[in-house]
Amino acid sequence: MVFLKHPWPEKVINKGTQTLESDRLILRRFTMDDTELMFKNWTSRPEVSKTLSWWPAEDVEETRELLRDWTSSYARDDFYIWCCEWKENHEPIGSISATVKNAKFDEIEIGYAVSDLYWGKGIATEMLKMVIRFMFTECKYNRLYAMHGDDNPASGKVMDKCGLKFEGVHRKQGKDKYGNYYDMSVHAITRDDFLEEEAKKAAEAK
Ligand SMILES: CC(C)(COP(=O)(O)OP(=O)(O)OC[C@H]1O[C@@H](n2cnc3c(N)ncnc32)[C@H](O)[C@@H]1OP(=O)(O)O)[C@@H](O)C(=O)NCCC(=O)NCCS
Repeated sequence: MVFLKHPWPEKVINKGTQTLESDRLILRRFTMDDTELMFKNWTSRPEVSKTLSWWPAEDVEETRELLRDWTSSYARDDFYIWCCEWKENHEPIGSISATVKNAKFDEIEIGYAVSDLYWGKGIATEMLKMVIRFMFTECKYNRLYAMHGDDNPASGKVMDKCGLKFEGVHRKQGKDKYGNYYDMSVHAITRDDFLEEEAKKAAEAK
């Protein structure tokens, strides 16, 4: 019996955390030199961790330890976590990660956080758009999703603005820092969605 191979569209090419840039932001690899400003701008701030699973860092050493782990993981070409640098003052003001969740189906999960000192300026939207483009056009991933709880509508708004579609609710998939489970809204975009939208924009621009 002859087994025919399914014609797979395009193979994922992991390129690791590469520098990306927009008018206001540089997305780049973290370095250990980011420790103090990362601690000051977000890891120590209760407002940022309120909707997340971690407690605000009490000591800068906790942030240093995290960065030690992240910076050593950059050796892997499937490890994606960017430091968001605000060009105006060159400070690190947030992070965005793309975690390979389902390698078999070329699927990644996105997570992000922005210093509350910079909220409402469109920063999360700007960085997510850059990462979507990179993951689909450079790395050829098939599907990208992100999740948020009911207490975090701003995050859902960011996902909507970046073209992710609401797919449903995963019941009790989240667990807060007190150990309570909560429902997660799942939003996703596929590479086909992304390319279709790009083609539409190009046709409109003609
Ligand atoms: C969620 C988060 C990343 C948003 O960052 P940001 O840079 O302020 O996001 P943006 O400015 O790009 O967009 C936020 C949008 O949410 C809207 N928004 C803010 N608060 C809102 C609320 N309570 N309800 C509905 N929408 C809200 C803003 O008006 C904005 O939409 P607009 O541009 O149409 O006005 C930021 O609040 C954060 O880091 N929170 C803590 C960490 C976190 O929750 N990460 C996500 C885990 S799922």
